[in-house]
Amino acid sequence: MRLESLNAVVTGGNRGIGLELFRQLLAKGNTVVATAQHPAQADDLQALAAGAGGRLHVTQLDVSNPASVERWAAGVKALAPHVDMGSVDDNGSGPDYAYRASKAALNIVNKSLSIDLADEGITCVLLHPEATYGPT
Ligand SMILES: NC(=O)c1ccc[n+]([C@@H]2O[C@H](COP(=O)([O-])OP(=O)(O)OC[C@H]3O[C@@H](n4cnc5c(N)ncnc54)[C@H](OP(=O)(O)O)[C@@H]3O)[C@@H](O)[C@H]2O)c1
Repeated sequence: MRLESLNAVVTGGNRGIGLELFRQLLAKGNTVVATAQHPAQADDLQALAAGAGGRLHVTQLDVSNPASVERWAAGVKALAPHVDMGSVDDNGSGPDYAYRASKAALNIVNKSLSIDLADEGITCVLLHPEATYGPT
């Protein structure tokens, strides 16, 4: 998949894999919508946005709060009408049953999103990052 000059949304972006994804997406000339539960406290993300020339939008999202999800989705639609979006069989990694079950849920959410958004030309993907460890 070509990842240049696109509009991309990545949830969870103020640390870990999400933050690094934003760095790399911006370096390739993409425009990115990032999320954080508390944007004002997302210092690394805000610093990245300050140098991104308006190509990084920091938005508030708590995926466990339906009202937050609704509000966020409406805001994203306004920011980027056309969006290119982007531990199941290994019990030796990933904390526990609930963690691994959440990945199955993520799969079906992505599949459902891909059906709902297909008519708008939006592609939904899930990426497996392999084991990755941020600074401690
Ligand atoms: N690291 C690995 O080796 C690895 C391997 C396989 C899969 N994964 C998966 O890849 C994803 C990211 O991993 P990571 O290591 O980058 O994790 P991380 O450093 O813990 O970052 C998690 C991200 O999710 C956000 N988040 C947490 N709860 C949220 C909520 N209720 N609403 C909205 N955002 C929320 C966090 O934002 P806040 O700071 O605002 O909470 C943060 O940006 C996870 O789903 C993880 O299971 C990771």
